[in-house]
Order: sequence, then C-alpha cells, then structure tokens
Amino acid sequence: MRLSLPKARWLPGLTLVLSCGAAASGADWPVHGHTPAEQRFSPLKRVNADNVERVGFAWQALLDSSRGLQATPVVVNGVMYVTSTWSRVFALDPRTGAIHWTFDPKVPKTWAMKGCCDVVNRGVAVADGRVFVGTYDGRLLALQARNGSVLWDVNTIDRSKPYTITGAPRVVGDKVVIGNGGADFGARGYFSAYDTTTGKMKWRFYTVPASANGPFEHVELEMAARTWDPNSRWDMGGGGTVWDSMSWDPDLNLLYVGTGNGSPWPAFQRSPAGGDNLFLSTILAINPDTGRLVWHYQTTPGDSWDYTATQHIVLADIQWLGKPRKVLFQAPKNGFFYVIDRKTGELLAADKYVRATWATHIDPATGRPVNSPTGDYRDAPRIVMPATLGGHNWHPMSYSPQTGLVYVPAQDAATHFSATQFNVLLGGTVADGFEEMVPDDSIGRALLLAWDPRARQVRWSVPHSTFSNAGVLSTAGGLVVQGDAEGYMNFYDAVTGQRLHRLATGTGIIAPPIAYEVDEEQYIAFLAGWGGALFTHAEPQVAARRFRNEGRVIALKLGGGTVPMPAAEPSVTPRPSGDRLRALNVQQSRGRDVYAINCGICHSWYGHNGLLPDLRRSTPAMIDQLEAVVLLGALEPLGMPSFAGQLSVEQVRDLKEYLRAVRIE
Ligand code: HEC
Repeated sequence: MRLSLPKARWLPGLTLVLSCGAAASGADWPVHGHTPAEQRFSPLKRVNADNVERVGFAWQALLDSSRGLQATPVVVNGVMYVTSTWSRVFALDPRTGAIHWTFDPKVPKTWAMKGCCDVVNRGVAVADGRVFVGTYDGRLLALQARNGSVLWDVNTIDRSKPYTITGAPRVVGDKVVIGNGGADFGARGYFSAYDTTTGKMKWRFYTVPASANGPFEHVELEMAARTWDPNSRWDMGGGGTVWDSMSWDPDLNLLYVGTGNGSPWPAFQRSPAGGDNLFLSTILAINPDTGRLVWHYQTTPGDSWDYTATQHIVLADIQWLGKPRKVLFQAPKNGFFYVIDRKTGELLAADKYVRATWATHIDPATGRPVNSPTGDYRDAPRIVMPATLGGHNWHPMSYSPQTGLVYVPAQDAATHFSATQFNVLLGGTVADGFEEMVPDDSIGRALLLAWDPRARQVRWSVPHSTFSNAGVLSTAGGLVVQGDAEGYMNFYDAVTGQRLHRLATGTGIIAPPIAYEVDEEQYIAFLAGWGGALFTHAEPQVAARRFRNEGRVIALKLGGGTVPMPAAEPSVTPRPSGDRLRALNVQQSRGRDVYAINCGICHSWYGHNGLLPDLRRSTPAMIDQLEAVVLLGALEPLGMPSFAGQLSVEQVRDLKEYLRAVRIE
C-alpha cells in the first residue's frame, strides 16, 4: 500500500528510518488508523501475549485539559503529534514525552454551544512536513511540522450555522479531506478536499440536496433529491454531516466516507411523504481526484433514530467463500455489521452485532433493511435498540489480519423515542419526562466484541462496567488493547478474549491506543481524559468521580513502572438523590424549560454528574449574579458562553427561580 510519508528529515540527532519499508515494519504510526486502510493493527510484536504482564509506565505528558480526549496520536519522523481539547496541537518526543511545541488555534469558547458532545478533537494528519488539523469552529489548518507555525488557515463552513469539526483530516495524495458535524442542530452535510500545499479548495461533495429544486451543486444531488419529499424541512439543512470516518484505497483510488443522521431526526417530520433521503446514513465511495461518486450503500434508508454511518470504516483483503475479495467492514450505529465489496459496493453480509429492534434483518436480495413496526414512533413513543449513541459510536474498532477478527467497541442499549420529546431540534421540551425515563444510573452497557466477519458471529465479548467505551488497537503480538472509563488500560488475548494484564491510570480512557517503536523499544501510547458525548453523565464507576480528570498522553513499555495517579480530587460531584420530582410553580417550571433547552446540553439534563458544574449546587451568590454569567459573559474565558441576544432578562429571572427551587447544599 502506498503511503504519503513526509520527505523532510529535519530533526537533528535522531535516526530516522523513513521509507515505505519503515511504515510496513510498523515502527511509526503515520496515519490516523495506522494506514489509510484504517485497520488499527500494529505489526509490532516485541510486546506480546507472553510478556505483556511486564508492561508498565514509560512517560506521560500533560495536555492542559480536564475534559474529553479522543485523539489518536500520530508518530512520524521521530515526533508524536496529538490534539487536546479545543483543537490544540502538541508535538512531543515519542521516547520521553518532552513537548517540542504546542499550537492553539484559539477557538472561540462560545463555539461549544454549536456541538453536542464536548469540545473534543480526534487528531491530526501529517504529510510532507505539514501537520493538518480541523478546528471546533470549522477551520482547517496546515502547520509546519518542525515548529507548529501556521502555513495556511482556511474557513470550511458557513459561520452562521452550527457546524463543528471534531474528526481528523485525511490526506489523500496531494489533497487533504475534511467534513464536519452539526446534523443534530440543523445543518447540511458535506466534505471537501483542499490542496495540501496552498489550502485551496479542490472539490466539495454535499451529502444531501439543498431543496427539491436545487441548486444541485453536483450531479449526484439530482438523484438524491428524488428520494426526498419536495416539502421536506429544507430549513433544517437535511443533515448527513461527515464528522468522522474516512479511509482510502490508493490502488482502487477510492475514498470511503460515512455520512451522518438526518436533521431533524424523525423521518416523518423531516420528509413527511417518506423516501430514503439520500445520502443520509450512507457509505460513499468517492474518486478523490474528482470528488465524484463511484458507488454508495445506504445503511438506514429514511433514518429516524440518529443512526449515523459515520462509524469507522476498515478496508481488508480477505477470503470470502473461497475467493480473495477486497472488502470494507463497518459497524454503524444501527446495530448491523456490514461486509461490502469495496470495489463495487455489493453487499456481502449484514448481521446484528448487538440487539437491534428497528429492523428484523437486511434482505440480501435488495440490500435493504426490513423495518420493524416496533421502531416506528410516529404515533406512540417507543423504546428502540440500539440507542441514539449507537451499537457502536466514534470509538475506532480494529481488524487483525492475524486472527481475522474485528474488535468492536459496542454498546447494548435503548433509547425512548417520541415524536415530541426526544427531538432536540423541534423542541421546547427536551428534558420533559427525561428524569422519569432514566430511573437510575443504568443506561446500558458497553462491550468489547470480537466479531468474526466470515462466520458472521461474535467470537467473544467482554462487558464493561459503564456505558462509556474506548477505541481499540490490535497487534501482531496477539493482543487487543482497550482502555476504560474506570481508568484502566486493558490487554486481552486476541484469540480468546482472556484479560492478560491491566494497568490503573486513575484517568478515564475513551481514546484508542497506538503502538510504535523507537530505538528498539516498543511503546503503547494513548490519551487519557474522560468526556465526549457522555460528559453530562458520569456513571459511579467513572474515574473522574474519584480523581481529577487530568488530560494526558501516557506511554507504556516493557519493564515500566506504575502509572502516576492524578490528585484524588473528583472532577464530578456525586449524584444527589431524593429531590428529583420537586413540585415547581409556574415561574419555576418556565425556568426549568429554559434550563432544558439552553443549559442541559453542557450542565447535564439529569442535573447531576456531568464534568461541568452541577448548577443545582450553585451558591446563592452565584444564582444572584446569574445575569452577569448568562447575559454578560462573565465566565466566558472558562468556556461558559454568553447568551446575550438569545435569552431575555425575564427568562434569566425564571431560571434563577428554578435553580433556587432545586438547589442542594
Ligand atoms: C456550551 C456549554 C455550556 C452551556 C450551553 C452552558 N454552560 Fe454554564 N458553564 C460552562 C462552562 C465550560 C463553565 C465553566 C466551568 C468551569 O468552572 O470550568 C460554566 C459555568 C457556569 C456557571 C458557574 C458555575 C460555578 O459554580 O462555578 C454557571 C452559574 C453557569 N455556567 C450557568 C449556566 C446557565 C444558566 C446556562 C444556560 C442558560 C449555561 N450555563 C449553559 C459551559 C456551558
């Protein structure tokens, strides 16, 4: 496989073995998913199933963050590049963790309101001496790998809309491709390719039409428009945002892109007369030279459940029914594991990898799901599986060509859907009834699944104690490596799933580990820092309830020691009890609605256990000054946005009465 490797050898004093051979030997981790095939399989075996219990602490580097860290480190040319919260980039020495440089793109803190799931970033792309990063406020930047200075900085979005970038850019030849998020708040999805040298846009592919009558920016949108009701909620943008997955096959010259959910969520509101609503929840195969579509496969036609297909796409060459086949694997949110011929788009297999009640099966003849009436919530609320967070979310899975298994960070959970309540977009009553719907801390469980794509079944699975999950690595040393929210890094036997080793870090882990080798030493490195989509809901086992949620890179090696624990000072306060259904008067109820629509997305709708302050524990003085905080932006430097122009003085008064009514000492 061809790789786009930096030519520059600029760091003095380091032995740089940089050729395609180096990448093949796996010494570096040069691309987000290790190679453009995104297998996240390391060919290194110095650390293996026989010696893994000797793995311990090598070094750590603090990333100045107390919120969620999701990035995959990239190790190239003797330097490690990672991103922290607010899209900040750190360049480190992969042997010691010493920081070479840091770069802060200065994302406006108010932008946090435009995203759903914490101010996260999933990492950089590095090529030809340049480091590419997408920012939470929708910019794409090229930095000089040597010192972090800005080469170019382009805006990729309409800045009046709720777009965010959390995904890693992907370099495809002389282009760098980036999408964005926003479909949960009303946005139109697209992804774009920029010239790596100049930052000039080369092409843009919209994933949904602007309206039934265009404008059709490219020919594929005419086909897509025929799958929408002409009277769709075009004002909501349609959705289909491309917030994560991309992989690339240089030999077939195809770029694979997964698209997101519809906006608004319920198909019966979005496109009332029905229709598949292309290209929502779809895998797209794109010619990266032209940006034109080669084939597509829609995983959830007419999606109503937030079942994105932005989940990690893995490319593999396997034996299928006795013949070699170039396939791709995806386990999108909808709960089915897909095996697809990646040259033609032909569906080879689609099987439930977790419980899924919205469809009975995928019809092999048509490739379409057979929807189940139990998923239809147009007329009555329904509990549907998987949950909106999906059978699998952004946490990258890993494919080991050695075992033939795909290791999926999966989730077995349900969501209560209703036409009026669980719709953040059309809203009014986001939180109404939510407290009753979530009776305790149990909102489902995360699992590590070993899926056999040829036998089409689970080989083994390990349940986690939380709903929170983490990305996965597999290695030629026969290991599967995955962290957890309790703050452990776990090493499993890739064949049996037996846990061989476990290291306590004291910091919840959601990010995927990597493996690399420098000076004949193999390291396993990962970001520790709990948060992401669940940052408003820290379950009792989450490490942030016992230790400060200290964001850092941790590297492990053979013969290392114990990992230093962060201060035993919880980042989240324990959940209050017994006060949840207090009677509220009319003004307090209005205040609760203001809270539900404007504050809950960060301070938690459940009113407890989030990473940000529990407003029910606000001091009387803080409540007295709420106007300064909410309308004058007094805490903006801390990331608390100003609501000037959005909330009236009367609404803040109602909010104060609500907070006083539910206050806990
Ligand atoms: C985009 C996320 C976000 C939203 C939405 C948000 N906040 Fe905040 N809020 C923050 C952050 C970040 C902080 C600072 C946390 C810290 O101390 O580091 C904060 C802090 C606060 C504080 C100070 C808490 C304390 O005791 O120190 C108050 C009060 C507050 N917010 C009220 C509100 C109200 C009321 C709303 C809704 C109108 C709201 N916030 C919406 C992110 C948010």
